[in-house]
Formats: sequence, structure tokens, C-alpha cells
Amino acid sequence: MLILILQTTGLTALIAGLLSLILVIAERYLADYGECKIDINGKRKEVVKGGSSLLATLNEKKIYLASACGGRGSCGFCKCLVLDGGGPLLPTEKPFLTTDEISQNIRLACQVKIKQDIKIQIPEAIFNIRKYKAVVEKIVDFTYDIKELTFRLLEPATIDFKAGQYVQLHTRSYEKIKNPVSRAYSISSNPSQSNLLQLIIRRVPEGICTTWVHDYLKEGEEIEFTGPFGDFYIRETEADMLFIAGGSGKAPIKSMLEWLAENKSQRRMVYFFGARAVQDLYLTEYFHDFEKKLADFNYVPVLSQPLENDKWEGRTGYITQYLTEFVRDCANTEAYLCGSPAMINAMVKGLKECGIKDEKIYYDSF
Ligand SMILES: Cc1cc2nc3c(=O)[nH]c(=O)nc-3n(C[C@H](O)[C@H](O)[C@H](O)COP(=O)(O)OP(=O)(O)OC[C@H]3O[C@@H](n4cnc5c(N)ncnc54)[C@H](O)[C@@H]3O)c2cc1C
Ligand code: FES
Repeated sequence: MLILILQTTGLTALIAGLLSLILVIAERYLADYGECKIDINGKRKEVVKGGSSLLATLNEKKIYLASACGGRGSCGFCKCLVLDGGGPLLPTEKPFLTTDEISQNIRLACQVKIKQDIKIQIPEAIFNIRKYKAVVEKIVDFTYDIKELTFRLLEPATIDFKAGQYVQLHTRSYEKIKNPVSRAYSISSNPSQSNLLQLIIRRVPEGICTTWVHDYLKEGEEIEFTGPFGDFYIRETEADMLFIAGGSGKAPIKSMLEWLAENKSQRRMVYFFGARAVQDLYLTEYFHDFEKKLADFNYVPVLSQPLENDKWEGRTGYITQYLTEFVRDCANTEAYLCGSPAMINAMVKGLKECGIKDEKIYYDSF
């Protein structure tokens, strides 16, 4: 009896599996949605071939929505208001949308497939985001797993961005990686150097883009990126500024400090950089130099696990231990954070305990 039940269950599962496979194949290779119209903000109309994602289709029309994961449905950055024709909300979208967003019909553009005419609304600023061609001018090793890349822009020859924003770097195919991908990287250079762009990229083991950057990309090679994206940028107030970063999170803070120094900012600032050991520190002298360039600035590296032979005489432990030493007036302080999600969560908690208001804490986590 048991064997019969198992056989029947197995057969049913096999048939269900085969049917879904047939549906996927039919959807991919046989479905023809013909020409569909995209109405953007009621102003721009595009006629496109149906069947691709809204994100990819807009990209083809040179409209670039943010997409840190390159369309894999794992970053939640490609949100877009769909007024009509997006089809039902998919389970893959739900984790990234609030109840409010769902009720407004905000969707993830990489998950919405164009199967019929569609009406969308996007911020006007998105029309200023462009695709750039650039040449790799210099690659410098900062640590065993972090490199700085300097690109000289070719076409367009300059870029306008705010310190703290990021770009999407597009890879080429290499070895086993046949399909190019795109990933988000914070710009580390000063916005005033508009003909070049610098990125600080940490190797992620087995990572598609970072393996390409670290092992395959060479000086003199041409690359493409789109941007600028993001709302992590300096708020122009008189408030004190607290910068906190870890690992490659130094990139946007470098851009911000270069911009603030060039513009002779008189604001009071402190920058905590969290690293594990001495081997993870980089640009230390460079950031201490801002203590001379800026009116009131301190650079404070903090090591969480210095090695025995590090001979480290600086601060150790958690950055949150040292906040009160440097932050004088929490009610009048803005915090700019960049690092891993775990670090950002711990810092936000510490900053709130210290009295810094939620709405004055800005961050990019990756
Ligand atoms: C707004 C924004 C700005 C960013 N700025 C920078 C930056 O300035 N410098 C920088 O180095 N990175 C930055 N990132 C991260 C970057 O976009 C990529 O996610 C990262 O470089 C990994 O890409 P990959 O293609 O090499 O790895 P993938 O092929 O995407 O991932 C390979 C595997 O590693 C895991 N993984 C992915 N990312 C990480 C990670 N960071 N740590 C541990 N495991 C991971 C994945 O889950 C997967 O299992 C930023 C991300 C965002 C969203
Ligand atoms: S592009 Fe990342 S979720 Fe859509």
C-alpha cells in the first residue's frame, strides 16, 4: 500500500514538473507578444517588442532605472510606478515592497514582463542618467582584496554627479562567464573632476563582477557604465557631520570629503573607519591629511581584531564605543554611513542610542 502511495505521489510530482517545464519553454520560445506601447509619464511613448522585462526594455530605449543587482530581482532598487498593464504582482517582488507601495502599484521593473501596452511613471531625474564609455587609466592595489580603478571618460566626456552617488559598472564576458552583468559601485572621486571617475572595489570570492575587475580587467581597456544613481549625498546644512565606513564603504566618503575640502566647508566632522586588522587599512595618511585641509576634522580608524604582530596603538573594538568622545551635539549631527548591512544595522542602533535622529542618518549598505 505504502509503495503504491509513494509511486502515485512521485508520478504526480513528475507530471507537474514536466508541465511547468513545458510552460516555461513555451513562454520563452513560443510566446509572441508582438509590439507593445510604453507610455512614460504621459509624455513619452515608445513602441517595443514585447517579451522582455520592463527594466531591460527601458534600458534599450536608453532609460536607466537603478538596478544594483543587474536585474536578478535581489536588490529591490528598480522600483517603478505602473499605472496600467503590468500584470499581477509576483511573489518575487513582495519582499521588497511595503504595503503602501503595493497598494500604489509600485513594481520591480526587472520582474514586470512586457506582454501588453503599459503605462508607467518615473522621476524626471531618471532621464538624465546615461550610459558612458570610459578607458581604464590606472588600477592600484589598496589591500590584498581592494583595488582602486581610475577611468577616463570617452563618450560622453564628462559626468555630473553628487558626491556619494554610485554607477552601474557593466562587465564583459570572460572564461566561464558568458553573460555580461552589471553591478553598483559608489564613485570615490571628486565630482569636480568631471572627466574621470574612480571606484574602490573589494573582491567577493566567486563574485562575477569583482573577479572580472580583479583578475581580468587591464589598464587601457574600454568599459561601460551607467549612472549616476542614488540619494546618498551630502545634505547642505550647517549640522556636524559624522562619517562611518568599513571595507570598500570608504569610496563614497572619499568623494564627499574631497568635495567638502575643495569647497572649504567649515562644518565640524569626524570620520570613523572600521577594519579588522592593520592589513585591512588603506589610504590612512590620505585621510589624516584632511585634518589639515578641513577646518575641523578628525580621522579615526578603529580595529576590531588587530593581529598580534600589528603593533597597533590606535583604537580597538567597536566604533560605537567612541561616538560620545567625538560627537558633541547629537541633536545637531548628521550621520553618513557606508558598509555591510550588519555594520549599518549596528551603527544605526548605536547612533539612535546616542541621540541622533533617524531622519538624520543616511546610508548605503552593500
Ligand atoms: C549602492 C551600492 C553601492 C555599492 N558600492 C560598492 C563599492 O563602492 N565597492 C564595492 O566593492 N562594492 C560595492 N557594492 C557591492 C557591489 O554592487 C557588488 O554587489 C559586489 O561587488 C559583488 O559583485 P559580484 O558580481 O562580484 O558578486 P556576485 O556574483 O553578485 O555574488 C557572488 C556571491 O557573493 C555574494 N555576495 C555578493 N556581494 C557580496 C558582498 N559584498 N559580501 C559578501 N558576499 C557577497 C552573493 O550573494 C553571491 O553568493 C555596492 C552595492 C550597492 C547596492
Ligand atoms: S534590478 Fe535588482 S531587483 Fe530589480
